[in-house]
Amino acid sequence: MLKTTAAVFLSIATTFSVLLSSPPPKSYYHSLFISTSLSDNVSISHHLYTLTRRPHAAGSEANAEAASYVLSTLAACNMKARIVSYEVLLSYPDSRSLNLTPSPSEPPITFDLKQEIYKGDPYADVADEVLPTFHAYAKSGSVTGQVVYVNYGRVEDYQTLKDMGTNVTGTVVLARYGQIFRGDIVKNAFDAGAIGALVYTDRKDYGGGGGDVKWFPDDKWMPPSGVQVGSVYKESGDPTTPGWASSEGCERVSVEELESRGDVPLIPSLPISGADGETIMRSIGGEIAKDDWQGSKDAPTYRIGPGPGVVNLNYKGKQVIVTIQNVIGVIEGEEEPDRFVILGNHRDAWTFGAVDPNSGTATLLEVAQRLWKLQKKGWKPRRTIILCNWDAEEYGLVGSTEWVEENRELLASRAVAYLNVDCAITGAGFQASATPQLDDLLKQAAQQVQDPDNSSQTIYEQWIQSSTSPLIGRLGGSGSDYAAFLQHIGVPAADMQFGTGGYPVYHSLYDDYVWMEKFGDPMFRRHVAAASVWGLVALRLADEEFLPFNYHSYAFEIQKLAEDLETEISDKGINFSPLFKSIEELSKAADKINNQKKAIKEAKGWASMWRNDRVKVRELNDRLMMAERAFTDRDGLLRMPWYKHLIYAPSRHNDYGSTSFPGIDDAIENAKKLNTAESWSMVQHEVWRVARAVRHASLVLGGNLT
Ligand SMILES: *[C@@H]1O[C@H](CO)[C@@H](O)[C@H](O)[C@H]1NC(C)=O
Ligand SMILES: *[C@@H]1O[C@H](CO)[C@@H](O)[C@H](O)[C@H]1NC(C)=O
Ligand SMILES: *[C@@H]1O[C@H](CO)[C@@H](O)[C@H](O)[C@H]1NC(C)=O
Repeated sequence: MLKTTAAVFLSIATTFSVLLSSPPPKSYYHSLFISTSLSDNVSISHHLYTLTRRPHAAGSEANAEAASYVLSTLAACNMKARIVSYEVLLSYPDSRSLNLTPSPSEPPITFDLKQEIYKGDPYADVADEVLPTFHAYAKSGSVTGQVVYVNYGRVEDYQTLKDMGTNVTGTVVLARYGQIFRGDIVKNAFDAGAIGALVYTDRKDYGGGGGDVKWFPDDKWMPPSGVQVGSVYKESGDPTTPGWASSEGCERVSVEELESRGDVPLIPSLPISGADGETIMRSIGGEIAKDDWQGSKDAPTYRIGPGPGVVNLNYKGKQVIVTIQNVIGVIEGEEEPDRFVILGNHRDAWTFGAVDPNSGTATLLEVAQRLWKLQKKGWKPRRTIILCNWDAEEYGLVGSTEWVEENRELLASRAVAYLNVDCAITGAGFQASATPQLDDLLKQAAQQVQDPDNSSQTIYEQWIQSSTSPLIGRLGGSGSDYAAFLQHIGVPAADMQFGTGGYPVYHSLYDDYVWMEKFGDPMFRRHVAAASVWGLVALRLADEEFLPFNYHSYAFEIQKLAEDLETEISDKGINFSPLFKSIEELSKAADKINNQKKAIKEAKGWASMWRNDRVKVRELNDRLMMAERAFTDRDGLLRMPWYKHLIYAPSRHNDYGSTSFPGIDDAIENAKKLNTAESWSMVQHEVWRVARAVRHASLVLGGNLT
């Protein structure tokens, strides 16, 4: 009886309070989102455990299973979730072998090319599901040649070799992983005349420096038999559908045509272990390599060659059209359903993918679950939030690229921002890269979330203490799924992770749950923090009346870049004033829009209920959203036309490297080589192009037709 009365009274009281008080402000929900009451390290660890139970490369049955898991988890969070499939060309190893004849008088050695199962490995039962070590899209073939050691295989390393009088033509190069994208290692080797490439993980870089250092499972370092697998394809997306989506029955470019254009690797290559790399290194004679080309302290002395060691490398790959699956989950916006805040992470992994990428997938699912908890407490986003779980990223950002290509117009007119997390956790320490208008937002979010490794400070405090300037990196490289969004269609983007030193078992058999639990994130608190920052940035973009973009950072940033560039080639007679003038206009437009925002805010109060005001806000936000698009150019970069962004794109000789003003940069490099009047006038042309793009951005931001 008493209970009933109390219950009735409570229910009346609740009804009254709902009627009398307005709903909590969005910021209330944002604080709730990052509070301990909503976060759950146990469920994150469970997601990671489940996702990484089996190896799941793109196109495998296990990866389709993982897609179902993601799909059902998103659906259980009340999202409209679906699978979006594409038919794409992927590459798998068919057969491979590697022999070394150390010298004419010695018998050949055959390498077994196997990564050893470690003692107590709980995944030993499924280890044979891991793809044999290979380079995706490597050219099939059999080559025999003397070995030349080429350090990291960078353009400057080949220059060093040339200066030393070493002829690489007709040899098989031995390069070590670490400084540039592996596709560029192979490309640079081809350009230098090599007939094959072997790429190994040096203990100096991946083995804790060598010596009596232990390796996984006793320490975090790569075991001697560990091999970094990966793609050597340099472009984004399905190679057979450059620029358009790989839907079933679509137009395709033949592999022969791709080869004739030089769009795919043109010499065979193979990744090998540190142990095998060292064995081959011992067979190389000739001049001693420079100090910074040497290995760890207990490694043999590295020499350049060529030979006397001769290797025979055989690789046969099969390239097949397979179905890949992106999983897309949507929470529709209440007021602006046609504005999209997009979070993305890939799912496919070379092996178990505990770090790369499923620490990110587990984090994405945690974000989804917290957003569902918020919804149950009455929150609804103002704009639409879209969670994307990409497939075939490892092959060349395939899933995200096909989706962006297919939805280009809608995304270009409606996407507010794209927030990427690939490896969410490789260790301690936060790092982020972004387009500059997002800088302030990222810093503010990091100021709100506690450092998972030190509860007496925020992530921001840890970040600024440990960061070597600049604090926020830029997204010129094409190392992950933000590439299509930013570099192809000009959507503002960010990329975040915990772990600043890379992780040694990258793309090897040992990237498993045990490694994560022991070394990457023993309590899963970094995962929790990653979900907090990622989700908070998304929530603010989705909920705030005015998009939290600051274009002053952009103007400031490119002013600095332009000044550096002018200094770099001050004696070449290039006129930079069009560029400086356009940047000044951008800065003025940023002022103008900030003032307009203030004016609308001040004129508010009851007026905010008026439609007129809402239209003004919307118009202003559209300018903030669209200004980034203006940095893209229809024709794209001269030698990389898929890349349309004139401020940020990958370096031509290192896909991971970020170039600012890539068109100008490339033209300068070319002009330095040719040193003709014509080549320098191309530099001037590229300066003009960037100046026009920046001016376009300021016109969009300013919102006035000329
Ligand atoms: C390098 O070797 C190749 C073939 O062995 C030869 O054709 C070429 O002329 C050599 N290049 C130089 C610069 O010696
Ligand atoms: C934790 O953060 C506080 C405040 O920044 C700092 O004084 C302290 O040294 C940090 N502790 C560790 C173990 O880094
Ligand atoms: C979750 O965090 C608590 C401490 O906050 C810790 O005791 C527990 O082991 C963690 N769970 C996992 C799965 O790491």
